[in-house]
Amino acid sequence: MTVRSLLGILDLAPDEVVALLDDAARLRAARPALVAGGPPDTTLRGRTVALLFEKPSTRTRVSFEVAVAELGGTPLPLSGAELQLGRGETVEDTGRVLGRYVQGLVVRTFGQGRLRALAEHGGVPVVNALTDAEHPCQALADLLTVRDEFGSFEGRTLTYVGDGNNVAHSLLLAAASVGLGVRVAHPAGYAPDPAVVADARDRAAAHGSEVTVSDDPLAAARGADALYTDVWTSMGQEEESVRRLRDFAGFQLDARLLAAAADGAVVLHCLPAHRGEEISAEVLDGPASRVLDQAENRLHVQKAVLAALVGGVGPGASA
Ligand code: CP
Repeated sequence: MTVRSLLGILDLAPDEVVALLDDAARLRAARPALVAGGPPDTTLRGRTVALLFEKPSTRTRVSFEVAVAELGGTPLPLSGAELQLGRGETVEDTGRVLGRYVQGLVVRTFGQGRLRALAEHGGVPVVNALTDAEHPCQALADLLTVRDEFGSFEGRTLTYVGDGNNVAHSLLLAAASVGLGVRVAHPAGYAPDPAVVADARDRAAAHGSEVTVSDDPLAAARGADALYTDVWTSMGQEEESVRRLRDFAGFQLDARLLAAAADGAVVLHCLPAHRGEEISAEVLDGPASRVLDQAENRLHVQKAVLAALVGGVGPGASA
């Protein structure tokens, strides 16, 4: 049997992305009855999913833990520092051993190579919970939040202002795959990976949308349906924070950018946020903000991902 993993957003075909969003919306609609004590979801009954985090997390770790439990499985949170991994055991051996115990691995780690090694040697589905290169579950939640707001992606544009980082990479590729136009505005030296941009441009062209990259946040925001940003200093970059504060001056998602966006535009942020740095408090906490819906959608899309990859239900089947 083929073991499917979600190591990057391109592990999902465009129709599978849409099907997962549909699954997530169905799981969301069913959740009030589930948490009110209705019939349990047994999709992951008898299955244990290890949540291996080598970096801090609030949203991803908690939403995955709740997701596994609500699907009837057993979540097993693991910190890299508490495993022998933290004392030098190889990632390959860690994967081989964990694969004998659990039926799925959710992993937040550093390089994409560590994630690939766990998938190759573990022999169970592995889900990327953020690497230095990608954050695919975040991108799925982002798409669901945009679709909730506008009903479809057709003719819509999302502008991402800030660091061309892992969040930007998955967002570019995911949006391009479903025909949501994307504009990225970044300071000099913080561009997204050119290979990712080229791939996203090809995919966007096939879906009738467009990807643009510039150093002009105001121009990028003009007429956009959604404005999105992320922290200027990501985990592991703390020593660069002073330089980054200087380099990102003028790239704050603030009232000036929101005023340039389309009427009814919404504001997104993957969180955690730093008010007064990458986003102003009035915008983050204002009426256009959808950041809490976006954070909640992490739970629903991750349930859909787990149902599909670990439970063998979907994409497009978790009715
Ligand atoms: N957006 C996100 O991944 O949040 P956490 O780092 O808290 O998981």
